[in-house]
Amino acid sequence: MNRQKLISGAVVVFVCCALGIGIGLLGCSASKETPQAEGSETPAEQTATVKTMNQWGKEYPLQWNSYAQIKVNPYDGDKEGHFCLRTKELGPIKKDSRGYKPFRTEDENYVIDFLTYDDEAGQWIVDDSVMNVVTEATAYTKGCFSCRSSKFQEIEAREGADIYKQPLDNEFIAEINGQAWDCALCHGDNPENPADSYLKYFNEGTGTAFDEMDPGLRVCGQCHTTMNHFSEDHFRYGFEVDGLVDSKFEQGQTSFDKETGITTASGIYLPDLEMVQTSKMREMGVTCVSCHMPKTTDKESGAEYTMHNASGSPLENKAAMEYCLTCHKARGINSADEMVKMVREQQEKAATVLTALKERCADTKAKIKAAVEGATIDMAKLDAAREKYTRAYARYQVALGDPNTAGLKIAHNPAMTWQYVDEANVILTEIDALLG
Ligand code: HEC
Ligand code: HEC
Ligand code: HEC
Ligand code: HEC
Repeated sequence: MNRQKLISGAVVVFVCCALGIGIGLLGCSASKETPQAEGSETPAEQTATVKTMNQWGKEYPLQWNSYAQIKVNPYDGDKEGHFCLRTKELGPIKKDSRGYKPFRTEDENYVIDFLTYDDEAGQWIVDDSVMNVVTEATAYTKGCFSCRSSKFQEIEAREGADIYKQPLDNEFIAEINGQAWDCALCHGDNPENPADSYLKYFNEGTGTAFDEMDPGLRVCGQCHTTMNHFSEDHFRYGFEVDGLVDSKFEQGQTSFDKETGITTASGIYLPDLEMVQTSKMREMGVTCVSCHMPKTTDKESGAEYTMHNASGSPLENKAAMEYCLTCHKARGINSADEMVKMVREQQEKAATVLTALKERCADTKAKIKAAVEGATIDMAKLDAAREKYTRAYARYQVALGDPNTAGLKIAHNPAMTWQYVDEANVILTEIDALLG
């Protein structure tokens, strides 16, 4: 697909209307989370030349219904996933004890410790006692929507990069108009267009690597990547760990630790695109879409369509498991249940190994710190140890895939996960030898 064409595909249309969101403190009703197109159109929207995702949803109910699903995290019971986040973030916004997401009302931003979802009422409920007014959005800024909404880039083109750090306000939310994880992000101006990446930063920042990726990877990779909005020719040295580190260093995206003098690459902890791109399964034609968005048959009409619950778990999706079996039968797996069991075992194994590696990295860092403080070794050796640590830690991060869920993403690239762990351990042993 022609990149230039993708980039110029966005048409700026202002939809000046209030969101169809009831904003109240208690029982804040965001869009009702029933699997139906949310009826939030106003006359202004109806006359706009670009349709909102709710309008498209009415034309493509199978895709919409499968998209509008809530994911319950099995580990902490948190409700999440693209549709759920969209509702939390664009309705009055959620904040939980692990993050700093402001909860927005008509006049003020709040931080709240927790909120719960009432399945029957289809509403997020927050208790008054856990709300505190804040003057500005703490960690949640307009910039957060750069990787959530096709509308963001229109606003950025008009207002400039300053908006990244600005707190959310009602005007901005109104212009986003519910369009987060919207059809346009993956389909451009019409859902009939083949799915691909439409975020400008990604299509430009990937440089020559753009064409090396399958659209089935780009469509998800436009957000699930180690790239960010400042990236230029990000994959100049390829998709593997050392290439990512070198690229980050050249782009000045690093972080320096004063106590040890170690510099590490920033933002390489969610390398979905990178791990999948370098996998054996990808070489055989497997993409993010094949595992996370398999084709499904509608029970009522018998129509075949693409399941749009992209952020759901493949392990809970029968069609996805059938797909795995097309290859994994030959690898000794005979049923969907066995497939799930095999993946769970691999995830646990990876979690154990990665947790041990994390501890070993921490120990090594402590030894480097002690060497710095005690001035016990010569500078050349110390520098060599620091550089090696950078490489070892990057391997840990990329193999880990997500700091909150060690081992969960093992299916993205099993071979590379084990390889990076092994290499990291070898490097850490070399550091031990240097430090004596
Ligand atoms: C996260 C990316 C993503 C989003 C968001 C998305 N789609 Fe899709 N869509 C896909 C993929 C992937 C396919 C599979 C076909 C392809 O690769 O082109 C697809 C296919 C389709 C098709 C073709 C028929 C089919 O089911 O295969 C339609 C129609 C469609 N989507 C409608 C929508 C609508 C309507 C929305 C918004 C409510 C939407 N899509 C949002 C990724 C997305
Ligand atoms: C517009 C950006 C964007 C696109 C496009 C996108 N995602 Fe996401 N996705 C996110 C964000 C942001 C989250 C939330 C991450 C978090 O809370 O840790 C998320 C969450 C997820 C989750 C759940 C993670 C969890 O912690 O529960 C999965 C699985 C996922 N995405 C898969 C996909 C797949 C597969 C595609 C492509 C079909 C895709 N995503 C496309 C931005 C995107
Ligand atoms: C070989 C199949 C496969 C491919 C290809 C694949 N995934 Fe996954 N993905 C999985 C499985 C299996 C899980 C684990 C799900 C679970 O444990 O419930 C997962 C987990 C995830 C998660 C974490 C979900 C969570 O709950 O934290 C994200 C995010 C994700 N995938 C995104 C992507 C993206 C983006 C791509 C493409 C760049 C991709 N996946 C490619 C199979 C795949
Ligand atoms: C096109 C064939 C193909 C498909 C489809 C496929 N795999 Fe694989 N899978 C392989 C091959 C080949 C390997 C061994 C190479 C490797 O480690 O990447 C493998 C390895 C794995 C492993 C490591 C354990 C092992 O058997 O080596 C896991 C876990 C895995 N795949 C999960 C999945 C999941 C989950 C799906 C479906 C959502 C899936 N795969 C779909 C071909 C496939």
